[in-house]
Amino acid sequence: MAQWRRSAAVVLLAMLCYTVAVSASAADFDEKDVVVLGAGNFTDLVSSNKFVLVEFYAPWCGHCQTLAPEYAKAATILKGEGVVLAKVDATEHSDLGQQFQVRGFPTLLWFVNGEHKPYSGGRKAEEIVAWVAKKSGPSVQIVKSVADAEKALEVETPIAVAYVKSLEDKDAKAIAALGDKEEGVAFYLTDDKEVAAKFGLGEKTPSLVLLKKEAEKTATFDEAEFTEEALSSFVLKNKLPLVITFSRETAPSIFESDINKQFLLFAGTDEYEKIRPVYEEAAKSFKGRIIFVLVDLANREVAAPVLEFFSLSGEKTKLMGFVPEESGLKFGYDGDFSVDSLKNFGEKFVANTLEPFFKSEDIPETNDEPVKVVVGKSFEDIVLDDSKDVLLEVYAPWCGHCQQLEPEYNKLAELLKDVKSIVIAKMDGTKNEHGRVKIEGFPTIMFFPAGKKTEEPISAGSYRDAAGLGKFLKENAAIKFEANLPEYVEPAQEEGEPEGEAEGAFNYDEELGHLDQTVEETDDKDEL
Ligand SMILES: *[C@@H]1O[C@H](CO)[C@@H](O)[C@H](O)[C@H]1NC(C)=O
Repeated sequence: MAQWRRSAAVVLLAMLCYTVAVSASAADFDEKDVVVLGAGNFTDLVSSNKFVLVEFYAPWCGHCQTLAPEYAKAATILKGEGVVLAKVDATEHSDLGQQFQVRGFPTLLWFVNGEHKPYSGGRKAEEIVAWVAKKSGPSVQIVKSVADAEKALEVETPIAVAYVKSLEDKDAKAIAALGDKEEGVAFYLTDDKEVAAKFGLGEKTPSLVLLKKEAEKTATFDEAEFTEEALSSFVLKNKLPLVITFSRETAPSIFESDINKQFLLFAGTDEYEKIRPVYEEAAKSFKGRIIFVLVDLANREVAAPVLEFFSLSGEKTKLMGFVPEESGLKFGYDGDFSVDSLKNFGEKFVANTLEPFFKSEDIPETNDEPVKVVVGKSFEDIVLDDSKDVLLEVYAPWCGHCQQLEPEYNKLAELLKDVKSIVIAKMDGTKNEHGRVKIEGFPTIMFFPAGKKTEEPISAGSYRDAAGLGKFLKENAAIKFEANLPEYVEPAQEEGEPEGEAEGAFNYDEELGHLDQTVEETDDKDEL
């Protein structure tokens, strides 16, 4: 499921956001151009204006306060361009929040003729303006003069320039289609030989060049024909810098890329200067296959949450392979920093032949409560013990549904503590991982029957109390048992499975909301 695919990236992003949460200073900016909306006038405004960007915020949310002056500035700039910037206090208008599935703050939605899409731009005024300009304007700009070309060369984002025979021909159309689709690149088109030369293009039409400000500045498209597939793959391969330095600003381009494998190099500034040539050289071989990232250890604020996510101390230089999609697999690199060795590791990484690394807390010294504590390292011994029927709850310390479940789970374990064939266990899923555990939310409760440990575990579905889980165990235990369990009463209104909820394990917005909440020490989020 889509939510799960982005899971690990999302935890990482959220952890990052947590540490960079800033408390904004008192309002010393002018919000006159930000339109305030409520339930009564929302629909009217978004349907009577072609382009509207809406921010759903909560008054207590730190990220919203940080965004406010930037948003106000962008609103003033964009007002003259026919774009409305609006905001909704989602704690006051929770019905609107629900209608648009707002789970964290701030959430920005982009409305075109009343239809909305997520906003995926940055949070600085100029980034908002650039994103909106791109979404509301033509996707490709025509360069008519050398003066225009010089302006285009000043643009900070990567630019792609196509030289075509005619601005009306099929190649020009192919570039327009590409411009509509690709994020993070500004597209330009010209039919003028002199203009083309300004961008380093020769006399051949069609031709295309991609220019960046960073190392390896120029990439030239070398196919004879402008086919959609070849163009897309060229842009995907070349639009990112060879090595991206990890930050809140660059995180979306890393995690929302179609390239789902990453190298994360954790290194201090001096150390990186030594490794840089090797790392960049290796990166050239994996363009379009692996994103090469630098996590600068000198920038503690940014590095700390990423280190924590990978269970690293940050004391020494370390390279990790990471696949944020799927289940967020991690691969540790122990080789030396030579181009050959890195390439070798990269090829195995791409071919999926490396052994993943799973994080774990230390095995606790005592473990004699009725609910047994499982960590990554003790998973095999406890959960995969073939002689036991094992029920495992994977939880997160901050998850409200898990806290609600806890007394019931403890009660179940207490009632079953004399049944030797059954183990009731729990694992903190934020600090421990195992290849057999795939979770889509917290809590996830799964059952590993005795004698069938190689099979997929059975989901306990949505049973969330001692009676329901007891009934589930009675039905599924491989070794029959007797115990005095509370009687399970079928919920009245339901037709099929009883319904329970799991909190989105790693939903970016939700986690962000949660973290904001922690930072602000408030319970307001629950009202949503
Ligand atoms: C929309 O309604 C809200 C109250 O729900 C009000 O505060 C706001 O000023 C209204 N905005 C406009 C543009 O009329």
